[in-house]
Amino acid sequence: MPQKVNVKKLSAPVKTSTGRVSTGIPGLDELLEGGYVKGSTILVTGGTGTGKTTFCAQFIREGLKKGEPGVYITMEEDPEDIKEDLKRFGFNFERFEKSKVFSFVYQNPFEISDISSTIVDAINSVNAQRVVIDPVSLIGMYMKDPAVLRKRLFEIIRLLKKTGATTLITSEILDNEIGERSGGSLSREGVTEFIVDSVLVLNLFGVGGGITRSILIRKMRRTKHGTDVYPMEITSKGIAVKKE
Ligand SMILES: Nc1ncnc2c1ncn2[C@@H]1O[C@H](COP(=O)(O)OP(=O)(O)OP(=O)(O)O)[C@@H](O)[C@H]1O
Ligand SMILES: [Mg+2]
Repeated sequence: MPQKVNVKKLSAPVKTSTGRVSTGIPGLDELLEGGYVKGSTILVTGGTGTGKTTFCAQFIREGLKKGEPGVYITMEEDPEDIKEDLKRFGFNFERFEKSKVFSFVYQNPFEISDISSTIVDAINSVNAQRVVIDPVSLIGMYMKDPAVLRKRLFEIIRLLKKTGATTLITSEILDNEIGERSGGSLSREGVTEFIVDSVLVLNLFGVGGGITRSILIRKMRRTKHGTDVYPMEITSKGIAVKKE
């Protein structure tokens, strides 16, 4: 049975706001009227290796730089591996964990009944304003009934909204070896894209032995956003949207 969570206990603000939250991705804020809508939920999706984890980590790092606490909830089997990957980009979150403004949390996707309390506890532990769940799709791997999965994802997103935190969640688009999309869905679960406020699609194409990356703002409610497919790069400093 999913645990009932008393969201009133949350110490984060429970109100909607029209303010903007900077993305932490150079070149992206100006395509989004200044950033994400504060308190909204954004799906970051794309094929494997398109940069989803790096993208989310930059969002958290940006918050920490500005004094906005954050949590990173991962369902990947080896959270330490993720931390090591991020260190390569110069993202070292340990000092923020020590000063209790950042928490890195592992959620076992098999124990999905606990996810609501994991989210609330993690947010409360640092009074988080920025939250990442990477990848939310692992929930779907262990839930065979699509109706139950849809309901569960809906509950998670509603809970996140009530916290007042701005949240990035990741999923995958299944694609072939050169990055061409093989299915019609924007998420592995096939429903998340419809219940979030915004969808960002990261793409990767193999061209002549090299890799070309891009980002598409597929939807962003309450925002007059850029509508092109924008070139994007990953370097040793992380992700940036390039000016054409
Ligand atoms: N120093 C670097 N310079 C350029 N590109 C890099 C560098 N380090 C990593 N990358 C690229 O970033 C990719 C990894 O990005 P990331 O882990 O954020 O992607 P992801 O979409 O989360 O992947 P996954 O499907 O494993 O979850 C690597 O596959 C590599 O192509
Ligand atoms: Mg990843």
